Amino acid sequence: MAEKILLWMTVNGEARSAEVFPMARLLDVIREDWGLTGTKEGCGEGECGACSVILDGVLVNACLIPAVQAQGGELLTVEGLARKGELDPLQEAFLHHGGAQCGFCTPGMLMAGTHLLAQGGPGDEAEARAGLAGNLCRCTGYNRIVDAVLAARREHP
Ligand code: FES
Ligand code: FES
Repeated sequence: MAEKILLWMTVNGEARSAEVFPMARLLDVIREDWGLTGTKEGCGEGECGACSVILDGVLVNACLIPAVQAQGGELLTVEGLARKGELDPLQEAFLHHGGAQCGFCTPGMLMAGTHLLAQGGPGDEAEARAGLAGNLCRCTGYNRIVDAVLAARREHP
């Protein structure tokens, strides 16, 4: 059996480490070793986006990333969005536009939206839909989520 490695990363601005098997999924390390259960597991195979996180500025599916590949990286999870108990503008926009219903997709949607906003987008509805295309939602019909992302872009350019 492979030996465990010491994984160390910056997670939501803080240094974190864990002893993990190299091929452990980053998703399991996030949820089980670090207790950051905001990141969800839906399909476990890169299709649903529920496990979306931002790793070194790139939006990734944590269910597909081996822990060893994330070594030394900078990770942002949904827990890192709020500051000092204050929701960030995108979270506020989800709240005001009804962007969450059951909430299962919401952390992943927020991370995909955060990534879009960090890149200066979305410029219009089509760009918002394209940027969220990797994230599935069974409840909202997407319109309210798209509205929320566009509102966050408009109100916090
Ligand atoms: S759980 Fe990772 S994409 Fe679905
Ligand atoms: S709010 Fe239920 S899956 Fe999106």
